[in-house]
Amino acid sequence: MIYMLDTANLEAIKKAYDLYPLSGVTTNPTIISKENNGFISILKDIRSIIGEDSMLHAQVLGKTADEMVKEAVYLKEKVEGSLYIKIPVTPEGIKAIKILKKEGIKITATAIFTAQQALMASIAGADFVAPYVNRIDNISGNGVEVVKIITNQINIYNLDTKVLAASFKNVQQVHEVSKIGAHSVTVNPEIMDKMLEHPLTDWSIDQFIKDWESIYGEGKLITDIK
Ligand code: E4P
Repeated sequence: MIYMLDTANLEAIKKAYDLYPLSGVTTNPTIISKENNGFISILKDIRSIIGEDSMLHAQVLGKTADEMVKEAVYLKEKVEGSLYIKIPVTPEGIKAIKILKKEGIKITATAIFTAQQALMASIAGADFVAPYVNRIDNISGNGVEVVKIITNQINIYNLDTKVLAASFKNVQQVHEVSKIGAHSVTVNPEIMDKMLEHPLTDWSIDQFIKDWESIYGEGKLITDIK
């Protein structure tokens, strides 16, 4: 499983990168807008936190393939390191993916709601395909099932693409796509923290410390004991 963080908030990225085994940060225009700062400067700030080798996914705004390709090339010039250009799976987007693939630019096909969108993006050359689990659930679809079909398609056709399951609103959705073998997930900082929460874990740790301190003293660690 490849874990990525779905945010452009620098403090959240610093905290999560310090704690968790993360391989990348994903953004979209909505996520970037929340930070209310220059687009390129936000991406550069994220890069300085996560390092050159960590994946950074940034989305284009153009509606035509020509506009998307120009934006992608511009982003590639401005932002160093492992960069993935997010391209929506419209017909013009698929055209842009084909062109960018030939230019050697890495692509994440995004705004995916159906398995056929993902399959066509994979065959066009997308490195990642990002189905929107919660948004599919919200239109009475089954986001996890769509991720499952896409993952199977990639295996059946022996494609190089990885599934990047996205748009989660709870830990259970992340768990369900993990169970069916999604290659990667992008999760917002709140859900990332919740993935480790369990009251019995906290209770157990409290109990261990209470028992330890009853013999070795309050606040004592192993290194304090002779
Ligand atoms: C991925 O990068 C998507 O843009 C993102 O996960 C969408 O999430 P949302 O449906 O919570 O906005």
